[in-house]
Amino acid sequence: MAIVRTPAALTAAVAAWQRDGLRVAFVPTMGALHAGHLALVTEGLRHADRVVASIFVNPKQFGPAEDLDRYPRDEAGDAAKLVGAGCTLLYAPSVETMYPPGFASFVRVAGLPDLLCGRVRPGHFDGVATVVSKLLAAARADVAVFGEKDWQQLAIIRRMAADLDLGTQIIGAGIVRDSDGLALSSRNLYLTPDERQRALALPRALATAQATLRTGEPVAATLAAASTALAAAGFARVDYVELVDGETLGALDAPVPGARIMAAAVMGTTRLIDNLAI
Ligand code: PAJ
Repeated sequence: MAIVRTPAALTAAVAAWQRDGLRVAFVPTMGALHAGHLALVTEGLRHADRVVASIFVNPKQFGPAEDLDRYPRDEAGDAAKLVGAGCTLLYAPSVETMYPPGFASFVRVAGLPDLLCGRVRPGHFDGVATVVSKLLAAARADVAVFGEKDWQQLAIIRRMAADLDLGTQIIGAGIVRDSDGLALSSRNLYLTPDERQRALALPRALATAQATLRTGEPVAATLAAASTALAAAGFARVDYVELVDGETLGALDAPVPGARIMAAAVMGTTRLIDNLAI
């Protein structure tokens, strides 16, 4: 697998494939790859002939008190996993390449970033929109694949790609979970064995709420019960448990087609998110 480190080299490599009539899929990541990321590569291969992945731990999407410095980094290990999944090119730019001195532009989607995770992570989704617009503009791939685990991020990126005519089709891929139900996340590495066990309350609370809502129980009481279950399991803080419209992310007081139940909570020092369709 070739590795390129500049936007110009990425643009040239993708364009050369496209000139040969090949379709190209792009999978942006921050590395520390697990089966959830690799499933995006597999999904990319369903839509394209070649898959390009990127690894870039984007400083602009981390808050001042967040885990930028301790975010796990292992380019060689990640590269081997990408080869195994069928990825043919890796884009791994440096921070200086992405944000050289004088860099002054931001991409901000209005509305969606203020909801849910945006309430406790101000500026986070501006950092995501900025880096993803740069990545998509440099790759000019036919499709780009993002995970439904980060549902709010996916909704924001869909909006941005449509609004800015980025020319890349955005594809969502289902959440990959461990056999016990916990959604795979690079941040699960931070959990102690005890926290990892207690974190299972998150997917369980969502599954219980999903089942309850499907029987027609009231939304407010169902969400409150899920929140209580998380606190009882030892989550230090529950940021939200909400039923939202999957596209607008607006809060719902009754399930509608496309509704999702979304949750974020902190176990120890690790913030976990998860969501389920209703
Ligand atoms: P990262 O957290 O590395 O995730 C990269 C991609 O993998 C995202 O699209 C995310 O939704 C997806 N993903 C992670 N865990 C998953 C799981 N268990 N199942 C399915 N998909 C999963 O998200 C980011 O990086 C960054 O914000 C990025 C988009 C790369 C911009 O910096």
